[in-house]
Amino acid sequence: MLKGRILVLQGPNLNLLGARETDVYGDLTLEGIHELVHAHAARRHVAVETFQSNHEGALIDRLHAARDDVDGVLFNAGAYTHSSLALRDAITAVSLPVVEIHLSNVHAREAFRHHSLLTPVCIGVVAGFGWRSYLLGIDALLGHTGQLNE
Ligand code: DQA
Repeated sequence: MLKGRILVLQGPNLNLLGARETDVYGDLTLEGIHELVHAHAARRHVAVETFQSNHEGALIDRLHAARDDVDGVLFNAGAYTHSSLALRDAITAVSLPVVEIHLSNVHAREAFRHHSLLTPVCIGVVAGFGWRSYLLGIDALLGHTGQLNE
């Protein structure tokens, strides 16, 4: 049964958006991005929960807790994208559709950002569109779950 609710999960260092490497990640704070995400979700008639942590275990716990509450997840795992087998296993374990999100085009950056441990267990990836990656991710997820009524 669909719940009309999605989780936006934000990994390490994303709490510093707006101050951190603005040439790469843009000027908006995480709060500012979340306002745009909420507005877009409202246009699509779904609710959004947001959660940010710099701690791998906290992200895993939040994913586990979301298991029965949401239709799917947008996940910007930050640098854990490139290193965390534990997050990959958590995505597999919860059996939720997850869209991998990146503000930057990771493939146009350093080689160590080209590989993601998460991509194979996600339904897809949106990268390189700044804060719009999240809005595109919402539509991608709702398209996947059959909730995009356009
Ligand atoms: C990021 C890309 C990662 O490589 C990096 O470690 C981040 C942010 C992005 O949104 O572009 O922290 O996930």
